[in-house]
Amino acid sequence: MSFYRISNADKYRTAYQQSVEHPETFWSDIAGHFTWRKRWDKVLEWNFEQPDIKWFRNARLNITENCLDRHLADRGDQPAIIWEPNDPTQANRTITYRELHAQVCKFAHVLKNNGVGRADRVCIYMGMIPELAIAILACARIGAIHSVIFGGFSARSIADRVQDAGAEYVITADGAFRGGKVIELKSVVDDALEQCPFVKRVIVYSRTDTPVSMIQGRDVWWDDELENVHNAGYADFPAEEMDSEDPLFILYTSGSTGKPKGVVHSSGGYMVYATYSFVNVFQYNPGDVYFCTADIGWITGHSYIVYGPLCAGATTVLFEGVPTWPEADRFWEIVDKYKVNILYTAPTAIRSLMAHGTGPIEKHDLSSLKVLGTVGEPINEEAWQWYYENIGKGQCPIVDTWWQTETGGILISNLAGVTPHKPAHATLPLPGVQPILVDDKGNEITGNGVAGNLCIKFPWPSILRTTYGDHERCRQNYFATYPGLYFTGDGCLRDLEGNYRITGRVDDVLNVSGHRIGTAEVENAINMHSGVIESAVVGYPHDIKGQGIYAYVILDSHHHDEKLTRLDINQTVSRLIGPIAKPDQIQFVTGLPKTRSGKIMRRILRKIAEGETENLGDTSTLLDPTIVDEIKNGKL
Ligand code: PRX
Repeated sequence: MSFYRISNADKYRTAYQQSVEHPETFWSDIAGHFTWRKRWDKVLEWNFEQPDIKWFRNARLNITENCLDRHLADRGDQPAIIWEPNDPTQANRTITYRELHAQVCKFAHVLKNNGVGRADRVCIYMGMIPELAIAILACARIGAIHSVIFGGFSARSIADRVQDAGAEYVITADGAFRGGKVIELKSVVDDALEQCPFVKRVIVYSRTDTPVSMIQGRDVWWDDELENVHNAGYADFPAEEMDSEDPLFILYTSGSTGKPKGVVHSSGGYMVYATYSFVNVFQYNPGDVYFCTADIGWITGHSYIVYGPLCAGATTVLFEGVPTWPEADRFWEIVDKYKVNILYTAPTAIRSLMAHGTGPIEKHDLSSLKVLGTVGEPINEEAWQWYYENIGKGQCPIVDTWWQTETGGILISNLAGVTPHKPAHATLPLPGVQPILVDDKGNEITGNGVAGNLCIKFPWPSILRTTYGDHERCRQNYFATYPGLYFTGDGCLRDLEGNYRITGRVDDVLNVSGHRIGTAEVENAINMHSGVIESAVVGYPHDIKGQGIYAYVILDSHHHDEKLTRLDINQTVSRLIGPIAKPDQIQFVTGLPKTRSGKIMRRILRKIAEGETENLGDTSTLLDPTIVDEIKNGKL
């Protein structure tokens, strides 16, 4: 098995040029490195107006044959997953490709026995244990569409997703260990499913021995079901043959308005792009041990813990815990213990570990590291330098990978050791990716040393195909702002050498510790609290989280204990969305800066939250300009 490799800067340039001039040849060549049941009759058909995008038309495949079956001959005994438990004194687990194949097949039988079929939606709410990867792959094996829900989301968020996806099946665990805490997953699922009476089956894995209520006729234990399969003598599970464009999964993500959207990814195009980008960005070599610290509940975990690395036949490290428990050296301990070669993490994790100094690093041998990566938010130069010097010892290229849930894979990044890194810059597009910058009217901004809104003008194989159940929403969100272009929602600079630097969202989406949160979602949650009349939420720079959440809240005229009310509001947001969406600052105000038409001038609120007092811009169009001084004076 070989992969399409861009191994030096010249090849990068040639590949890039070919990808623009002959995209179909370029992608056909790359797709030729995968296992297909039937090849495509056309590489690409597309228009961004609808949008209607088809990659590898009429090709047939199953992604799990690429992740598992085709490795059995050459690397059946190589570890596919190394699992490090939350508690370092507990036994770890190593699962070879052969074992993973067997377990996925068995669990595919479990799903089938429980009524799950092709195209059924299955929501998965679990901690970072191998069974999460097994559940995902088993869904893919039988052609069901998985939708993983991050383990930190609330019951209400789960209910929203299960309902939107029309998922009749849920896979969860009794609980999850995270640092010193046990998160009672099944109990949260039970609360959620009160709103989802259509759910037919909940399969529960036992991880924490947390007491749970198992509902007669609906809930079954993972282990009991496996035993049934075992007793029936089932072993292999022939993979369901999927069309290239059949949905592989749905992943919900926040936008600037309304509830989270279910981003839909395809089978063929997603597989090709996740693997191509994994191999080339990280310059993965056979035998490398690769550790991505993300959670599988987010897109990074989907593409770069599960699908990309497994398709490439890599050894992927899966870590259940948190970087700071029991000590702030967990990442470094894992790197040393498993001789990790490639480490992929988030700027927020780097910044929080920086605060612990170099002591935790000095205890460990990090010399196995060859490549470092970051993802999820802009990395500030100080954190970049710290990562480079202290973790990479000045020897490891850092790939700053820019992408999104909707893009399915990394679109802009240097290729480790192949194209140069530059602190705080994602640098260059991968071959196959055509970024452009536009002004607010959609005019292209050409040349270097310029700034604008980042769009992509040509499809790549893992672009989202739709938002589940609402194609129009997909069109409006991503393809209507600038007709003919995919709009990312990000602002971006292009430096004098043509390197891209992402500056952050230009819409009402926050990026808190690398997690996407819509301001409207947080406002809706705050407004649910009795006593709140209205609220406005903006982001502000936060040393560790990148962005913090700043809420301006108008209370009704009753006497409120402000301290308690702040806690109540936080509690409300936690219950409705999850603890990640809790405001860091809540300022009580008597009014909000609104235009005569009633629109909140967030620009002013953002500036005040950032600590700016002078240049607040034109306030003359406000209904009541005096409110600005009041808010400024009351700034926390
Ligand atoms: O604003 C960009 C930021 O994260 C957003 C995408 O968030 P999400 O869909 O949750 O996916 C995160 C993991 C891919 C983008 O619109 N972002 C992501 N990577 C970077 C980044 N900002 C700057 N530099 C990056 N490397």
